[in-house]
Amino acid sequence: MTLETPRPLDRYRPFITEWDEFAAACARPLPTDARINPLRSSLESLRDRFAPRGITIESSAWDPCAVRASHPIGRTLEHWLGLFYLQERVQAAPVLALDPRPGERVLDLCAAPGGKTVDIATRMHNVGLVVANEPNGRRQQALLTNINRIGVWNVTVTQYRGQDFPHAMAFDRVLVDAPCSAEGTLRKQSTLRDGAALPAIRRLARIQELLIVHAFDLLRIGGVLVYSTCTFAPEENEAVVSHLLARRDARVTTFRPPFPHSTGLEGWNETPFESGTALCVRIYPHHLDSGGGFVARIERRA
Ligand SMILES: C[S@@+](CC[C@H](N)C(=O)[O-])C[C@H]1O[C@@H](n2cnc3c(N)ncnc32)[C@H](O)[C@@H]1O
Repeated sequence: MTLETPRPLDRYRPFITEWDEFAAACARPLPTDARINPLRSSLESLRDRFAPRGITIESSAWDPCAVRASHPIGRTLEHWLGLFYLQERVQAAPVLALDPRPGERVLDLCAAPGGKTVDIATRMHNVGLVVANEPNGRRQQALLTNINRIGVWNVTVTQYRGQDFPHAMAFDRVLVDAPCSAEGTLRKQSTLRDGAALPAIRRLARIQELLIVHAFDLLRIGGVLVYSTCTFAPEENEAVVSHLLARRDARVTTFRPPFPHSTGLEGWNETPFESGTALCVRIYPHHLDSGGGFVARIERRA
C-alpha cells in the first residue's frame, strides 16, 4: 500500500466545493488573454490586424476589453505598440472592484509590472492622478516601460515600501494588489503546482497586514480600498481583511463580479473572522479558465 503525501493545496478541499473542476482547470495550459488598450485600439481593429495571420480574437461577455487570442500574441508589433496588455482574465477583477473614475486621486500601492496601473489609468481616460508605487527597482523598470508602452499620461511613479508610503495626501481609492504566495498562478509556475509552503504564507501575511492597514489610513473618509491577491490561502486573504476590520472603522462592501466566482470565508481552522469577510470574492481557475484570485472591496466609514 502506498500512502500519498498531502499537498499544501489539499488544505483547500473543504471550501473549494467544485474540486474536480478546479483540479482539471489547474492541469490545463493557460489560454492567451489580453486587455485591449482603449486609448489606442478596439476589438474590431485588433481582429483586422491579426486575421491575416490566422489569429482570432474573442471578447469576453462581461468586458469588451478582455479578449482571448487563439495563438500567442506577445511577440508582435501590436504588443510593442501598446495596442493591448497581456493579462490573465482574473486580473481584471481588482480594478473592476476599485471602479476608478476620471478626475480622482488613485494610489496603486504595489504596482509592478503595471497591468492594473494601466487598466486604472485608461478607465480614468487619462484624467485625474494615479500614483503607481513599487519598491523593487528592477520591477519598477517594467512598470515604467508598460506605462510608456500603453501611453497613459496621468500616472506618476514612486518607490516606497508600501507600509512607509507618506501621508502627503488622501486618496479617493487605493489598490493593494499585495505581494503574495501566488498559488493562483500555478498554471504557469510549475513550482506552485502543489500549492505554497505554510512558512512562506505566514511570512507574507505579516507584510500584508502592514500594507492593508497603512493603505486604509491613506484613504479619504468615504474612500474605497481594494485588497487583492492571486493566492488561495485564507491566511493571506480573509485573515488579512479581518485584521484590518478589527483595527479600523472599515466595512467590506458588496462587489459582485459579472462572472462566476465564490464568496469569501467566514472563518478558517476553527477561528471565525470579523463580520463581513463573506462579502469578499474568490475566483478559482475554473471560473474564468484563468488564474486564481481574491478581492475585497472595503470602505472607510465616515
Ligand atoms: C502581485 S505584484 C503586483 C502586480 C501588479 N499590481 C500588476 O497588476 O501588474 C506585487 C508587487 O508588490 C511589490 N512589493 C513587495 N513588497 C512590497 C511592499 N512592502 N510594499 C509595496 N509593494 C511591495 C512587489 O515587488 C510586486 O511588484
